[in-house]
Amino acid sequence: MSGEPGATGQRAGGPARARDWDAATYDRISGVQEAWAHEQLARLSLQGDETVLDAGCGSGRVTAALAELVPRGRVFAVDASPAMVAHTRARLGSRVTVLCQDLAELTLPEPVDVIFSNATFHWIGDHAKLFRALAKALRPGGRLVAQCGGHGNIESFRRAADAVASSGEFAAYFRGWQGPWNYARAEITAERLAAAGFVEVETWLEPRPTLLSDARSFVATVCLVRHLDLLPDDLHEPFIRAVLARTGLPLTLDYVRLNMDARRAGERR
Ligand SMILES: C[S@@+](CC[C@H](N)C(=O)[O-])C[C@H]1O[C@@H](n2cnc3c(N)ncnc32)[C@H](O)[C@@H]1O
Repeated sequence: MSGEPGATGQRAGGPARARDWDAATYDRISGVQEAWAHEQLARLSLQGDETVLDAGCGSGRVTAALAELVPRGRVFAVDASPAMVAHTRARLGSRVTVLCQDLAELTLPEPVDVIFSNATFHWIGDHAKLFRALAKALRPGGRLVAQCGGHGNIESFRRAADAVASSGEFAAYFRGWQGPWNYARAEITAERLAAAGFVEVETWLEPRPTLLSDARSFVATVCLVRHLDLLPDDLHEPFIRAVLARTGLPLTLDYVRLNMDARRAGERR
């Protein structure tokens, strides 16, 4: 039997599950995100002795690559998901200081030279607050290089998920829900970064249509992770199946990435 639908925004799995991810499955299926991350890491041109932050480290696959770029430096990794944090700690041991925090409330033990982030900021509703927190965590002159989902991201997939969420036995669980994503435009992102104290700001959108090799695991673990929070366990599979029946298989997601490159105002070190 399914549980009763909760009030709007109430999660079937309770608050503890609200921000969590299946870290082991994410680690296995996140080759797509890792490939994007390597493109962003190539833009960093690090000297090797910097203190860096991986903002939204996930399972630590990308953090490991970032750590290799600063053999004489220090690495912080922050994520709001306890399972992702545990996975990153187990993978990277004492090489990286891994903290379980909301990036919009970020507090690091020391300021960093570089903040790197991949596939994370679109999960955070208030970008103005996020960018203020990131600016505070950077040394003056420190660099932000980030990529996340941007305006128009996975639009056809979202249409399919919305249609299923508003139909039949699922509708009661999603009533009034706005969805989990913040897919911002490049222009407003540049304005928000400047308002938070960043200079030399560049932002741009980049279409990246991507064919999924294991669509069922990918959408269940990534695209629908917060949708499934709202449903009782026995409706997870029917929901995933109904969304994939609408999108059809094989599934190419119409990804649009939002890139950010900026410096915190002030003297560089
Ligand atoms: C798609 S994963 C990306 C992980 C990793 N950066 C990568 O490229 O594989 C998104 C990550 O953002 C984290 N996240 C979402 N909202 C967050 C927040 N407000 N504060 C910190 N982390 C957050 C999630 O827990 C998840 O690990």
